[in-house]
Amino acid sequence: MNIKDQIQPKKLPSHVAIIMDGNGRWAKQKGMLRVIGHENGTKSVRDVVEASAEIGIENLTLYAFSTENWKRPKLEVQTLMRLLVKSLKREIKTLRDNNIRLLAIGNLNDLPKKAHQELLEVIEKTKNNTRMTLTLALSYGSREEIVNVVKELTNKVKNNIISVENIDESIINKHLYTQDLPDVDLLIRTSGEQRISNFLLWQIAYAELYFTDILWPDFKKKDLYEALINYQNRERRFGKTSEQLR
Ligand code: IPE
Ligand code: IPE
Ligand code: MG
Repeated sequence: MNIKDQIQPKKLPSHVAIIMDGNGRWAKQKGMLRVIGHENGTKSVRDVVEASAEIGIENLTLYAFSTENWKRPKLEVQTLMRLLVKSLKREIKTLRDNNIRLLAIGNLNDLPKKAHQELLEVIEKTKNNTRMTLTLALSYGSREEIVNVVKELTNKVKNNIISVENIDESIINKHLYTQDLPDVDLLIRTSGEQRISNFLLWQIAYAELYFTDILWPDFKKKDLYEALINYQNRERRFGKTSEQLR
């Protein structure tokens, strides 16, 4: 049986998040510059976005640039930002043709003006699309996100907009960048690293974690299918016993 046919449509994760890692090592292995790795990484983005929409994943979130990534050499940061603008310009058609809505999470004001504008434009142009929500995490840091929630809620309490007793998980959810998205069901990280690197700490509380040694530029549709099949073979107990689930 074709690997894609092994995926059970009724057991799909509603939210898949991916830490796209390994571009630099991919290039290094080939004796090329790191930026070539990033360029090839954008091809995997397209592959995985298309595959996700085709299969019926409703939410896909991609970690594209972390708050910590600003510490990289200036030239690499510049190239990544340029690639972002280029990809947005190139992929707007793919998003429209496939009825995909784009969102972005992170400290977007930190992005270069051009990248920020391009991003807002594509978000605006795709806002009524309904097949899948693609969220790009850009200048994203989960701790920063949580600190912002604390600040906002503190201000609201101070100004009597909400009371301390009313603060619960759902209010916190509504103040996160991911306010419109469900919890992450499946978190994939490529490149063999087994860490979270400040990504969606609150939202992955009960996510299934999937690590693969494949470097991001080599991660293609088939690899996503494998991750989904692996996910579907797990028992998500959410604290209950196996027997309770049957
Ligand atoms: C992921 O690949 C892309 C970003 C973090 C922007 P890396 O650039 O981290 O690649 P490695 O980890 O150095 O191989
Ligand atoms: C995480 O990858 C960030 C993105 C994939 C955008 P990094 O390569 O920056 O993570 P660390 O530094 O190895 O943890
Ligand atoms: Mg890395």
